[in-house]
Amino acid sequence: MSLTNLKKMSLGVKFCGVKFENPLVVASGILGVTGASLRNVVKNGAGGVTTKSIWVSEHKGHPNPVMIANEHYMLNAVGLPDAGIEKAKLELGNYMKNQPAPLIANIVAGRVDDFAEVAEQVAALKPDLIEVNISCPNVEDEFGKPFACSMPDAARVTRVVRAKTKIPIIIKLSPNVLNIVEIARACVEAGADGFCAINTVGPGIMIDLETREPILANKVGGVSGPAIKPLSLKAVYDIHKAMPKIPIIGTGGITTGEDAIEMIMVGATLLGVGTAVYYRGIECFAKIAKEMEEWMKKHKVKSLDEIRGVAHAGSYSKRFTDFS
Ligand code: DHB
Repeated sequence: MSLTNLKKMSLGVKFCGVKFENPLVVASGILGVTGASLRNVVKNGAGGVTTKSIWVSEHKGHPNPVMIANEHYMLNAVGLPDAGIEKAKLELGNYMKNQPAPLIANIVAGRVDDFAEVAEQVAALKPDLIEVNISCPNVEDEFGKPFACSMPDAARVTRVVRAKTKIPIIIKLSPNVLNIVEIARACVEAGADGFCAINTVGPGIMIDLETREPILANKVGGVSGPAIKPLSLKAVYDIHKAMPKIPIIGTGGITTGEDAIEMIMVGATLLGVGTAVYYRGIECFAKIAKEMEEWMKKHKVKSLDEIRGVAHAGSYSKRFTDFS
């Protein structure tokens, strides 16, 4: 028996030098406000956790209703509520005491200078990675178009965060652009180490037939869930094709183990899971991990490195030729 056959199957991955026992990380905005809830996510099978977006100071969100879903998608406009950096220090400090899995601290700001400030303060907490949210579609009334929708703005934010820390920085990109690759390239040139692709799509709108009005108080909200999976897969596919060495947290519509495997095949290293918590409960992390292992066993795949990026042109035929 060859060495590879003896090796045990593993879901383990490395992202910017950080080891994850499995690639499933809870996406920002989901169960990420307190240290205790982040721990609970790990207990339920996540390989890593992402905090809710942290602002320098308190930021009020939108009024209710902030969320509505059907079997195809979810619409949400929570408005990035947060108690600010001082509260985050307490909660993340709690999580970092005998840390159960890698921590991704997600930061947000409405002005470039504030990104520098929040990055500096969050970096002092020594998270494993810093994710920079430049792509929320729901605070346009307050701050204008997301930074992720413009190459110079995305690069400017990346540059000021880079100047504040050596911790790897992940830029969370918006799908709501004509060319996500050119934005991603500008971020890498400005010092980004990796990406999270994608943030929610739209915004979109849902109408209540009885009241004849938009359902959400904010009227519009970011679209997530199963319906956006083809869009997140395409974004990751394009970015990986253009920059195969830059690691990506593939996020958007991952609900099952097979969705997760597809996302690895287009080039993702980590997998963001958010809306699936609504559909399958907090147990979704353990369930998706188990389904991934079942798929791997059935297809004799021992590690995710074996299948990462195989969806790119030529990989299948090449492997086919190799085996013939
Ligand atoms: C919110 C933030 C996001 O980044 C997003 O994609 C959707 C919603 C929010 O807090 O409203």
